[in-house]
Amino acid sequence: MATKTIDDIDLKGKKAVIRVDFNVPLKNGEITDKTRIYGALPTIKKVISEGGTAVLLSHLGRPKGQANPKFSLEPIAKALSEELGQAVVFVPDCRGEIAEKAVAELAPGSVALLENVRFYAGEEKNDAELAQDFAKLGDLYINDAFGTAHRAHASTAGVAEYLKPAVAGYLIEKELAFLGDKTESAEKPFVVILGGAKVSDKITVINRLLEKADTILIGGAMAYTFALAKGKTVGDSLCEPDAIETAKSALAKAEELGVKFLLPTDNVIVDSLDFDNMTVGNVDATGPDGNIPDGWEGVDIGPETTKVYVEEISKAKTVLMNGPMGIFEIEACSKGSFAIAKACAENQDAVTIIGGGDSVKAVNEAGYGDKVTFISTGGGASLEFLEGKTLPGVAALEQK
Ligand code: 3PG
Repeated sequence: MATKTIDDIDLKGKKAVIRVDFNVPLKNGEITDKTRIYGALPTIKKVISEGGTAVLLSHLGRPKGQANPKFSLEPIAKALSEELGQAVVFVPDCRGEIAEKAVAELAPGSVALLENVRFYAGEEKNDAELAQDFAKLGDLYINDAFGTAHRAHASTAGVAEYLKPAVAGYLIEKELAFLGDKTESAEKPFVVILGGAKVSDKITVINRLLEKADTILIGGAMAYTFALAKGKTVGDSLCEPDAIETAKSALAKAEELGVKFLLPTDNVIVDSLDFDNMTVGNVDATGPDGNIPDGWEGVDIGPETTKVYVEEISKAKTVLMNGPMGIFEIEACSKGSFAIAKACAENQDAVTIIGGGDSVKAVNEAGYGDKVTFISTGGGASLEFLEGKTLPGVAALEQK
């Protein structure tokens, strides 16, 4: 069965409570990445163009159930208004008298963004009273917060019990299509690129994707745990000695299933890494044996590995990237991640899907965000979805 969407309901003259994920990165009050705002636009535009009213709920950060101006959504209302080209009413509370009065005054076609739902402790506890208060704000519920769909909170799940119809917005629909259908029945060759710090964080995804992929390319710090499993030395690299057996079992499963499971054969290594001052020590590449000497740590895939990985990506018909290849925030350690992003963008014959926080940031920073097929707005949510878990924010919605 498929989840009901915004296309299955009547919006005219209706007040739609829309849960969006405007948990965007802010630096000195400025939004540094608007991907999640862009992602919510199609649903908001659809509601207002059909003569409905958009009543937006979101969280920002983790204010721990307390009102805190540091986590106010007010700057986001301003940014959203610029993107929509129309006024967005900012409402300084998300429940009770202030919220209900402000919503009652909205004319059809207007948009309001209510203050941070996490200013109430009941949000993260999925409190029924809070969910009922949210339900009082409209005639129907749309969840479009894919990034928060892995949380069973009052505004992502609870409210759907009290406010119906309860349907998915276009962003959730698209995320489910790309991270779900397009990877479940991927056109082959299906190449998966996995990076990130820990094997233990990604092992469920690795095991699941081993069943579907033709090739898996490993990068990021988790590659050093795999290197240990292969009997190599990793110097001072970030790794998980406790996860060596887990890594070995993934290698064995790959062999059993005939999946090409590639690990870096060379690495960019540094002899010091000072994050505070953002300076990097000597940069070198390990030789083809891939062993990293003591006193050095791996921070990126090396040039030989990059060449091999790029070649694999160029032959793919479906590519899924989750996790960067190294510490791409530092220029000397960014070449691998950026080359992989470029290879994804250049393979226009493939469906290229970038799923999850840091890899999205790497692709955007490399300048290829608009050249890949799909960029997920979910960090933890995309990982949990790829693991095959049910997302409570989706499960709470009605079925067709
Ligand atoms: C995210 O950024 O991953 C989502 O907005 C969820 O935020 P959370 O991890 O604080 O629940």
